Amino acid sequence: MTPAVNQILNEYANYGKENLIPILQKIQEEEGYLSRESVIEVGKTLDMAASKIYGVATFYNQFRFEPLGKYHVQVCRGTACHVLGSATVLEEMEKMLKIKAGQSSRDGLFSLEIVACIGACGLAPVICVNGEFHAKVTKESLQGIIDEYRGKENSNE
Ligand code: FES
Repeated sequence: MTPAVNQILNEYANYGKENLIPILQKIQEEEGYLSRESVIEVGKTLDMAASKIYGVATFYNQFRFEPLGKYHVQVCRGTACHVLGSATVLEEMEKMLKIKAGQSSRDGLFSLEIVACIGACGLAPVICVNGEFHAKVTKESLQGIIDEYRGKENSNE
């Protein structure tokens, strides 16, 4: 167990199962995702089976069970982006990276997340990669964006 998870669990040691969600949120905030080890430790603290915790956590799509990729891609699914085709953007991104939202690519390079409005509606549809915004993305422009990040990676090698 990492020191951060240990500290969170100590804070909640005297609380009950009703604190499951805030505990998981805090761990994810600290670690970026919920590792199997963390889930087991939460189970011990709250006296809950890990399977039950997974059952609850997967119900909320805010939780991740894999570490973030080096490049974290957020696809905005807010209203303005939705109206301008973010469903297609997400679909394309999933095909391109061969992962679903909430997952990370096998090489650890990319992870994908669906987010609500990121405050750049005038640029819709928007994606954000490690905090860098890409405006008015299209099915066609996405490949170039991903290639750019792959290129950065290759030039670092
Ligand atoms: S809805 Fe996508 S940035 Fe606002």
